[in-house]
Amino acid sequence: MTEYQGAYRAHTNIALIKYWGKADADLFIPTTSSLSLTLNALYTDTRVTFSSDYEADSFALNGEEKSAEEVAKISKFLDLFRTEADVDFKARVESINHVPTAAGLASSSSAFSALAAASRQALQLNHISDQELSTYARRGSGSATRSIFGGFVEWQKGTKSENSMAVKIDDATWDIGMVIMTINTKEKRVSSRKGMAHTLKTSPFYPEWVRQNKIDLARIKDAIEAQDFILLGEIAEANAMRMHATTMAADPSFTYFEPATIKAIQAVQDLRASGIPAYYTIDAGPNVKVLCRASQMNQVEAFLANQFEDMQFIKTTPGPGIQQLDRWE
Ligand code: ADP
Ligand code: DP6
Ligand code: CO
Repeated sequence: MTEYQGAYRAHTNIALIKYWGKADADLFIPTTSSLSLTLNALYTDTRVTFSSDYEADSFALNGEEKSAEEVAKISKFLDLFRTEADVDFKARVESINHVPTAAGLASSSSAFSALAAASRQALQLNHISDQELSTYARRGSGSATRSIFGGFVEWQKGTKSENSMAVKIDDATWDIGMVIMTINTKEKRVSSRKGMAHTLKTSPFYPEWVRQNKIDLARIKDAIEAQDFILLGEIAEANAMRMHATTMAADPSFTYFEPATIKAIQAVQDLRASGIPAYYTIDAGPNVKVLCRASQMNQVEAFLANQFEDMQFIKTTPGPGIQQLDRWE
């Protein structure tokens, strides 16, 4: 028996300038570039084992065997690495999400970054740099492109598969924090993949989204360069709402917002009016993420907890890039 194994941790990332639509759905080339913050508190650990003894690929998430459909997605992704390594062994993938799955908290971003890194290690594809690895992660889930690196990361849309990749922009070690308001951590009804495809196809706002996103990205990069937190927050908040506006204008219309999402938005506005710089962003799900000063996370939580009694808050600082796991479990 011959066996190859790799195990990696990757952290989730939250987009401050969103990716919302594919120019090429097979290759996961986006219509726009995007920019995110990697998060320390939320991550995925994944181990992959390629073995001459296995007869089929299999995939267990949080200790549960996943459906044939989920396994097929993983197989297609692993094929990219098997082709590169010229290995045809079947694989066993075991993954633990330290983040709610499919709830709009970006589990797919940490998931496919961790699996890409574990696969590179297992198949000893040492010639693949981290930057090139991001082009592999991208093929599992677009947002995973950015989770290869820590801090603020840009996913440059590029012109082809080889150059649609992540570029590290900044370590984000200048008092940046995030307080996540968990409004609903159940699996969402419309996956990111389906939501963006439907929007791109039917929303008359879509071309304007693409045009505006470029402007937002250029401006937020300037804000990061200048370490201008207020400008960073203002741009991120506006960009998130622009993305959500495209879904509301889709045909048929849809939204990831729940009633509590709107209440949370108002609470963040009140928080800001009280003098604390804090800005919200929302991915494809109802949960609201509040960008604030790391040194003020406790104050932010206390203010919000006052208005949302039973809510769970996740406080996090910026996270690192992919990390090899020396021990499993
Ligand atoms: P999210 O907001 O959590 O990123 P998505 O709809 O983008 O939601 O992606 C959720 C999908 O990502 C899951 O249905 C599953 O197919 C995949 N996924 C999530 N976690 C893992 C994991 N640890 N390993 C492999 N695939 C995963
Ligand atoms: C709203 O990366 O989850 O979170 O590429 O189809 O797997 P697929 O979608 P995914 O979409 C993320 C959408 C978003 C914005 C973002 O993360 O940039
Ligand atoms: Co996702």
